[in-house]
Amino acid sequence: MIHGGRRLEGEIPISGAKNATLALMPAALLAPGAFHLRNTPALRDVTTMSALLRSMGALVELKDNVLSLDTAGVDRPEAPYEHVKKMRASIYVLGPLLARFGHARVSLPGGCAWGPRPVNLHIEGIRKLGAEVDLEAGYIVAKANELHGARVRFDVSSVGATGNILMAAVLAKGTTIIENAAIEPEITSLVQFLDSMGARIAGIGTNRLEIEGVPDLHPSDCETIPDRIEAGTFLVAAAITGGSVTLHNVLPGDLSAVIGKLQDAGCSITCGSSTINLHAPSSLRPVDVTASIFPGFPTDMQAQWTSLMATALGTSVITDSIYYDRFKHVPELVRLGADIELKENAAVVKGVQRLVCAKVMSTDLRASASLILAGLIAEGSTEVLRVYHIDRGYESIERKLQRLGADIRREAGEEF
Ligand code: UD1
Repeated sequence: MIHGGRRLEGEIPISGAKNATLALMPAALLAPGAFHLRNTPALRDVTTMSALLRSMGALVELKDNVLSLDTAGVDRPEAPYEHVKKMRASIYVLGPLLARFGHARVSLPGGCAWGPRPVNLHIEGIRKLGAEVDLEAGYIVAKANELHGARVRFDVSSVGATGNILMAAVLAKGTTIIENAAIEPEITSLVQFLDSMGARIAGIGTNRLEIEGVPDLHPSDCETIPDRIEAGTFLVAAAITGGSVTLHNVLPGDLSAVIGKLQDAGCSITCGSSTINLHAPSSLRPVDVTASIFPGFPTDMQAQWTSLMATALGTSVITDSIYYDRFKHVPELVRLGADIELKENAAVVKGVQRLVCAKVMSTDLRASASLILAGLIAEGSTEVLRVYHIDRGYESIERKLQRLGADIRREAGEEF
């Protein structure tokens, strides 16, 4: 429940990155032993990944944002459907399980709330490394007596496939070259973690990774990078409410596309080495964005940007070049009074003077963020249903918003 109209002001810390954690946790499968991942966010997706790793025999505990993981007892290289259906990132266990055990059985993730999300690149990649892969009763069944190095060129830049092939290749015999590798910060953080475990990887931060396989890896500890999408969402929250907010524990360089667009919209932004301050203008200018791969504007910020533009002074076009159908938030924003028309993979947003409260339904993680943002300025009390989606990727979002002065509370009742 959000009572809109409060200007956000103050300071909050940003949590560790969900998408980094979801890659680091499976990487721990590569070396039997104890790991500590600091700055791990307490999120539903982390709980799901923990349950998945436990089902294989790992010990997992999250306390005070330190995730302690012991993978010595892992003896069931299998990801059952009951876990994978809750979270697509479960597919990340495929590469490490295959590399450590020589076989793996991982449920196919299926589609997602806003459309198809194939895993063909993951499968083609591990086949290139020498795995035999069959699809049996909804499962990927992969076997390889020995993985060997290979040249893997992705037609499409994929975060997940890059991470998976990387984790398979670090223990393969010989050299693997990944071309058109994803360069998202979460992949770079995975490369650094693997490096600290003894992997030999050249080309960090570039789209050509060269991996020299090693016979084994050792456990290691690490600090999870800040969540650039959580940070971007709070910057938009400040901007949409005409507020002034400082974020701590951020890496401003990972947010340069979002910061640039916020400046184009009229916000003044000051960055320190790990802080960002945003001061919003009295009215926002319309700014087009096209969501694309890093360092472009993130698709995971597209829904939030649509909310921001809903009250800008003019028309903007928001295009998603990664997920063409990722617009399930649009009809809900229209229920709050936004003027948005969908044209193929673009939303044409005509700014309106005010949004008004309604009951709205969130369909996925970032859609729920966009509805909460719109609720912060809608007149009256906006009720966001199925808001449990937000807990997949935001640590205590309502408490952080309350700290900034928002009138928001969670009603008990809806269960995941
Ligand atoms: C990751 C992020 C997700 C983000 C997305 C794009 C995690 C856990 N999730 O998802 O939050 O929205 O990156 O930045 O890190 N594709 C194929 N075949 C494949 C794999 C992908 O065609 O086998 C396509 C997808 O349909 C999409 C594009 O590649 O159009 C990029 O997807 P990808 O980078 O793989 O996304 P995820 O890793 O699933």
